[in-house]
Amino acid sequence: MGSYYFDNAATSFPKAPGVGEAMADYLTRVGCNVGRGDYQPAYAAAERVLEVREKLCRRFGGPDPRNVIFTPGCTYGLNMVLKGLLRPGDKAALSPMEHNAVLRPMKQLEGQGVELAWLPCTDTGELLLDRAAEVITSDLRLCVLTHVSNVCGARMPVEEVGRLCRERGVLFCVDAAQSAGILPLDMAAMGIDALVMPAHKGLLGPQGLGVLILADGAAQAMEPLISGGTGSRSDLLEMPAFLPDRLEPGTLNLPGIYGLGAALDWWEGQDQAALRRREERLTGHLIARLAEYAEDGLRVLGPGEEGRQVGVVSVDFLGRDNAECAYRLERDFGIQTRCGLHCAPLAHKTLGTYPQGAVRFSVGPFTRFEDIDYVQGAVGELLSG
Ligand code: ALA
Repeated sequence: MGSYYFDNAATSFPKAPGVGEAMADYLTRVGCNVGRGDYQPAYAAAERVLEVREKLCRRFGGPDPRNVIFTPGCTYGLNMVLKGLLRPGDKAALSPMEHNAVLRPMKQLEGQGVELAWLPCTDTGELLLDRAAEVITSDLRLCVLTHVSNVCGARMPVEEVGRLCRERGVLFCVDAAQSAGILPLDMAAMGIDALVMPAHKGLLGPQGLGVLILADGAAQAMEPLISGGTGSRSDLLEMPAFLPDRLEPGTLNLPGIYGLGAALDWWEGQDQAALRRREERLTGHLIARLAEYAEDGLRVLGPGEEGRQVGVVSVDFLGRDNAECAYRLERDFGIQTRCGLHCAPLAHKTLGTYPQGAVRFSVGPFTRFEDIDYVQGAVGELLSG
């Protein structure tokens, strides 16, 4: 029995070709820090870090490579934005489809006097745009929205929400944990003030690294969540005023940045539109194969249409224990999934799968169509057993 990796929403695997080699190369051949040492290898490493910022800035429509901040991960970047911008007395909007990386800091902020306004969603996990437009009022400081649900793959209309936020003078933060590398994202065109993503999911880079890209206004308004040494303006007891240093204290995750750089190099050599079309077809195939069991006790969550959803497809084995089903998928068929509440309890409440949760299948660029057919056969056997 082989193994079938269907947990790309948790972390992509395999990574882009060249990622592991670039990280090993940094650790074994380069090794030095950047922004501190006055010697040639340190300058060369700093050049590479700048190159990676430039690639990210181009790819995501950021205003300037200096506005590309490396973080220890997407959760960390979201905390930086939310806690760096919101103060007691502020009002902020979010949807119930958010991950705990947004829900928990927002609840913490609510405890400190920030008022929360909820953007309504359907039971397929999609934003009700007309009703959301009534919630996004000019007295909001910030609106934060996931681009794609990590539970059911539903796509959120970030472009429309960005337009509303811009019209009403509201800062707009997008959690691109499940979309960066998968869906087109352009901060300038979509009216995004803060774009937050991990390196290790759709971008096919390593764990332990995230990226935060800020529009100028948001960058100026944000208080640093963490302060410390930057290797610049060491005479100051405050953080330097300029980016990225103001928001990037401490030694950077250089092996991670080299790895992400290799992933971005790989992406640049691909026909990205073709990869996107393939992922859409894979998604459609997975939804269709699982939907065949609708009469046999399997509920497929989410929009159920490839254009409205990315390759994250969750199912509820009605009347069965989802955790046991996930266990049997792995034990008997080698299929690796994630089951439970996926760190998104309110998403499951919205989808009607709380507290039982669901079993999530998530595809990546290296998933094969025949793997999905294999999943269909395995799920069929489970349901008939
Ligand atoms: N947030 C990741 C997931 O959805 C880890 O699995």
